[in-house]
Amino acid sequence: MFNKIDFDHIDTTQAPPEAEPDRQYYFMAKCRKYVKAKSERLGRPLFSAVRTFGCQMNARDSEKLTGILKEVGYEITENEDADFVIYNTCTVRDNANQRVYGRLGHLNSLKKKNKHMKIALCGCMMQEPSAIEKIRRSYRFVDLIFGTHNIYKFAELLATMFESDRMVADIWQETDQIVENLPSQRKYPFKSGINIMFGCNNFCSYCIVPYVRGRERSRKPEEIIHEIKRLVSEGVVEVMLLGQNVNSYGKNLENSITFAQLLYQVEQIEGLKRIRFMTSHPKDLSDELIQVMKESKKICRHLHLPLQSGSTRILKAMNRRYTKEQYLALVEKIRKEIPDLAITTDIIVGFPGEEPCDVDETIDVVRKVQYENAFTFVYSKRTGTPAAAMEQVPEGVVKEGFDRLLKVVQETARDRVSLLSGKTMEALVEEVNEQDASLVTGRLSNNTMVHFKGNASLIGQIVPVYLKECHGFYYLGEKKDEKR
Ligand code: 5AD
Ligand code: SF4
Repeated sequence: MFNKIDFDHIDTTQAPPEAEPDRQYYFMAKCRKYVKAKSERLGRPLFSAVRTFGCQMNARDSEKLTGILKEVGYEITENEDADFVIYNTCTVRDNANQRVYGRLGHLNSLKKKNKHMKIALCGCMMQEPSAIEKIRRSYRFVDLIFGTHNIYKFAELLATMFESDRMVADIWQETDQIVENLPSQRKYPFKSGINIMFGCNNFCSYCIVPYVRGRERSRKPEEIIHEIKRLVSEGVVEVMLLGQNVNSYGKNLENSITFAQLLYQVEQIEGLKRIRFMTSHPKDLSDELIQVMKESKKICRHLHLPLQSGSTRILKAMNRRYTKEQYLALVEKIRKEIPDLAITTDIIVGFPGEEPCDVDETIDVVRKVQYENAFTFVYSKRTGTPAAAMEQVPEGVVKEGFDRLLKVVQETARDRVSLLSGKTMEALVEEVNEQDASLVTGRLSNNTMVHFKGNASLIGQIVPVYLKECHGFYYLGEKKDEKR
């Protein structure tokens, strides 16, 4: 965790230290001087906005970028009409890339009006050579580009950008470094994501993540526990342990430890109320993990267990390393041990070679498992992955399969979620409802959302809520008086 640094006592006239994180503190001190000087020249504060595309990992990375921007003197804003805008990009599906290109045009028009404006791009998309080439060619107004492996050097890159009048680009192919003790600025005061590992070794044949996030690297358990204890002392009651494949946590550490053992340690932290984690690969989900979840008072009753396809033939081509039957047997085992656990999933439709009978198999799994929610994606061809070289399914066939699946997902989810109707359950209040300010929005342990009458004073509290009306994926409820 980051302890407050006295930046004014760092001598930036000397050469920077080699060791991390001291090196980054040095560059933060340097950036503070640049930002201060510029702000004095303009007679106003400098504003910065970080926009996140993609998953929870990226959201957590953005909190780290925001933390550094705040330390170096920027005022943080959501408004992209700012002095420094950074896009933290995703590339898991092509539409994520297209959204970035679309938004960049808008940023360019803002930059034409504010000559002090700087634009940076980082994240997964920057690890793709074709994206970098396109940005260098067609988006020359971008000031700074960096990737996923050197994000911990953000302060240093920022300093280089201030000292340069051309595009600064620094992309690494790999890293084995995990740099601790850098600042971060949390979006919510009461909950936080925690990286427990980085990268992925699975190489599912459709997926670009192993290429852009590199090999699996786990953080040491003591660093994770220390960070969570600190967060709890700052008011955090719920943590989400993050990794592409949390079930293989700890395998590459000197003192190897299992994910279940880590969870057990996190459970012991006093003051922490809820533990979530994401994502679990079915092939690595152990009996030990099921037992720890079953016995836990804090681990939430929710498991995200990506299926991807229900057809054993397609699963093999996807390199998922389980069959339809193995997946169903796993779900049965989990449901038997923890009946109130909600299971959600990810499914891809249109993987190369998929036929309508394969979609039937997927639909069969959806009916049998009765997911609380399923995220359904149209297969997106990612250059460099094995599936990109396979024969692609025609668009019309994909659409037909997708629509058929979506209908069943919606029906079964509604049935499953509605089983809680009439019960009273605890919800962690997260925010005032965006559509109706007389309501607040909370999340049950099983991740289902509930909206109920209340005000901002409830945010961050865990309160009992009567689940009155089920509306598909969410409930309308009523807060119960705790004293009765
Ligand atoms: N096309 C469509 N969906 C994909 N996912 C990963 N790669 C692709 C792709 N090439 C989905 C998977 C994964 C989720 C995060 O994104 O379902 O679980
Ligand atoms: Fe991609 Fe498979 Fe790794 Fe998930 S487990 S990040 S789908 S390669």
